[in-house]
Amino acid sequence: MCGIIGYIGNKPANEVIFDGLTRLEYRGYDSAGIAVVDNQKIHVRKDIGKLRNIRKLLVDDFSSDSSIGIGHTRWATHGRPSAFNAHPHGDCQTSLMVAHNGIIENFMKLKKRLASEGHEFKSETDSEVLAHLIESHYDGNLKSAVIEALKDVEGAYAIAVLHKNHPDELVCIRKESPLIVGLGNEENFIASDVTAILQYTRSVVYLDNFEGAVVKRDGVEFFTIEGEKVEKNAVQVEWNPVAAEKGGFSHFMLKEIFEQPQVIRNTIGGRTSEEEGKIYLEELRLTGPDIYRTQRIVIVGCGTAFYSGCVGKYLIEKLVQIPVECDLASEFRYRSPLVDANTLVIAISQSGETADTLAAVKEAKKRGAKVLGVVNAKESSMTREVDGLVYIHAGPEIGVASTKAYIAMLTALTLLALMLGKIRSVLDPEFVKEKIKELKILPQQIERVLDKHEEIKELASQFLHAKSFLYLGRGFNYPTALEGALKLKEISYIHAEAYAAGEMKHGPIALIDDEMPVMAIVTQSDVYDKTLSNLKEVQARSGQLIVVVTEGDGEIAHLTDCKIEVPAVSEILSPIINVIPLQLFAYYVADLRGLDVDQPRNLAKSVTVE
Ligand code: G6P
Repeated sequence: MCGIIGYIGNKPANEVIFDGLTRLEYRGYDSAGIAVVDNQKIHVRKDIGKLRNIRKLLVDDFSSDSSIGIGHTRWATHGRPSAFNAHPHGDCQTSLMVAHNGIIENFMKLKKRLASEGHEFKSETDSEVLAHLIESHYDGNLKSAVIEALKDVEGAYAIAVLHKNHPDELVCIRKESPLIVGLGNEENFIASDVTAILQYTRSVVYLDNFEGAVVKRDGVEFFTIEGEKVEKNAVQVEWNPVAAEKGGFSHFMLKEIFEQPQVIRNTIGGRTSEEEGKIYLEELRLTGPDIYRTQRIVIVGCGTAFYSGCVGKYLIEKLVQIPVECDLASEFRYRSPLVDANTLVIAISQSGETADTLAAVKEAKKRGAKVLGVVNAKESSMTREVDGLVYIHAGPEIGVASTKAYIAMLTALTLLALMLGKIRSVLDPEFVKEKIKELKILPQQIERVLDKHEEIKELASQFLHAKSFLYLGRGFNYPTALEGALKLKEISYIHAEAYAAGEMKHGPIALIDDEMPVMAIVTQSDVYDKTLSNLKEVQARSGQLIVVVTEGDGEIAHLTDCKIEVPAVSEILSPIINVIPLQLFAYYVADLRGLDVDQPRNLAKSVTVE
């Protein structure tokens, strides 16, 4: 979704801001803009399209000595993508500019009132009301004008404000939408997330809700929305700037797929003792009584995070023997969910900023449930809402189609299930020891699957013109089928549907003919024979089978030549390895079709609106 960056220092502001915006591209956007102050005048450039196509306008033809400015990438919500609707937005006299992320819910009312007072609007956006509101309260003090303006505002916002009379300060503030301040040497930054500024500084202050900052070249003053000064501590971000670059791969998605063995090592790192069969989840913050009291678990999330939760259901029901329900966050929040103090709600999110998941967390807490977050982004909004946390340690994920975060979520959920199973005495310590050992060799096994990328690319090249795909899996790998189909449709725009293999005969079998490729996950498991029977039904109807199988499986040979072999692992770990070929397959289909893999059309990395 929208990305904000602000800069004040001694470098050309538009260049630093443009650079920061390119690093926020992964959030999804359709237009962008930059505003700077030069000689007590505001200069603005904005347009629709990808940054690389509007670089000329924003940087090359925009020579300015200014070293203060703000920029924004917009993902349209109110008003179509256009240069007028792109941010930053100005007031009537273009004295000030505002970049906004979030939604102003009462903007219609505010716009009407401001228009009746004589304000002239240039865009269809909700955000523009902020510029006019601040203008109406401005009497020489920018911070006070911002605070006064926000008293009238309902909704979510992260904003950065620039004023021509204040060439030495930027003002920013947030409620619900994320915003950080980066601290440099004689230069400071405002950004939606750390990836935008990592190449300049790793010293970062995370603003809490209703907190803002006056950002100057030589210092930053933090304040609350009541205008009180507040002390904030800077955090040293561990993420390496190189981790946010492509590192020689043609796309972030491919790089992130190849990072997965290391991601698993990081997720497990320091959290297990193989000798004692123990698992330590440092930020869990669940007491023994909390764990014993739990009678039911509800897992919520969106997109890929939701599918990881579906694997979590199989894991927890098998290893902890507590009933688990898995719900889409957007459904959970509106269906009067039956959760209480004996329910543990597990909310899963890579970004920790997904609006529906955050709302589900709030709903669950309101109803008295304990909420555990399984999250990647440290200090994200979700980390502040939940009672306990399991960080997945996937590092920055830039590709819109999630891959390494999914693997890290599955690994973290496996650790959690093993730990809870042990505490509740369902699991024998020897079993836990064995699984820790297996988890630790999983990265090498995944490397062997990654080594087959050329083979998978060749397979993908045979299916570039397919109109539709069916993905089948059973048990632990039914969610793998769901995630595999999601990957394909997200980036290749080929329709793909996933079904539990046993359900095929109740409907989707009608779709099968010699033009319908069927991707099936049929690795060794308790339901292997059942899945094999389902695939014979596909073969009998001339469907084109592609299978993910365990190395050395002889039985499958007479069904199809299109197979991808993966090393044998326990069934409970199989979703972690089986999804890798499906990620690569989707990647190569999309890439060979010449599509923009990292920024698929219409999608956003972090969906911070409903
Ligand atoms: C968006 C992204 C998906 C992601 C989902 C949930 O739809 O495009 O890749 O799975 O949001 O995001 P979260 O950050 O909550 O895991």
